Amino acid sequence: MAKAKIIDGKAFAATVRNRVAAAVEQLRKAYDLTPGLAVVLVGEDPASQVYVRNKAKQTVEVGMESFEHRLPPDISEVQLLTLIGGLNKDPKVHGILVQLPLPEQISEAAVLAAIDPDKDVDGFHVVNAGRLATGDADAMVPCTPLGCLMMLKEQLGELAGLKALVLGRSNIVGKPMAALLLRESCTVTLAHSKTHNLTEECRAADILIAAVGREQMVKGSWIKPGATVIDVGINRIPAPEKGEDKTRLVGDVDFDEAVEVAGAITPVPGGVGPMTIACLLRNTVTAACHQHDIDVPEM
Ligand code: GUN
Repeated sequence: MAKAKIIDGKAFAATVRNRVAAAVEQLRKAYDLTPGLAVVLVGEDPASQVYVRNKAKQTVEVGMESFEHRLPPDISEVQLLTLIGGLNKDPKVHGILVQLPLPEQISEAAVLAAIDPDKDVDGFHVVNAGRLATGDADAMVPCTPLGCLMMLKEQLGELAGLKALVLGRSNIVGKPMAALLLRESCTVTLAHSKTHNLTEECRAADILIAAVGREQMVKGSWIKPGATVIDVGINRIPAPEKGEDKTRLVGDVDFDEAVEVAGAITPVPGGVGPMTIACLLRNTVTAACHQHDIDVPEM
């Protein structure tokens, strides 16, 4: 059988950013509206600093306003909640993202609950989780599963009736991914560490989404020939072939095996990852339109 098509998430993310930039330009011309995204970073975690810098850079590149709030690691929960209260009221801010994880003196749940659901561009607020679960079109959808869905539709077109298996039940990826696929009329299985006959369940799926955070767990023999495989995992493993102490990134799927069986597959890196920030920008435009009662442009 021919090798799987490699889905180029980096190229598709660039296309989505161009569409977002066109939508931003349209909002500016037609309504004198510039969407604004506020990103809040508490502390100095190096990985989070890189994410936040990339988010701010790409926000400006598509023509939106970026508001960055960097706070010391010992800030109190009350101080952070006060900042969020101000951002909720600020008419120039249409989207709010508080970078996770937070220092231990701050309750993540309290912070996520304090964000105005209509500005919750991460889609983590329980109101948005509830909107998505009940099929409300106004739901803000978490960025990573939204990016996965966009890649699936680009690859497969109509998804209705396909069997989809989501491996992993996190609030950030697995559960919203299952809800999105159900909204597309897929037959959805949400599998996890306690699932019986996991390999057989996987092998029945036309669409396999791996989001467990376990390096190269999904083997080629778990995949239905011709299936579309989306790998959400980002795991760092030793790479002695590159030299002593070197590492490399791998997904939750054993790519070298899976590429021989699947019909299409996302690589790691360069698959799902780049789509996440593109979807954050898209969500910010969507949020700005909702807040101003404007039809959301095609993006
Ligand atoms: N930390 C790592 N990824 C994310 C994300 O998508 N959103 C937020 N808020 N924090 C993160």
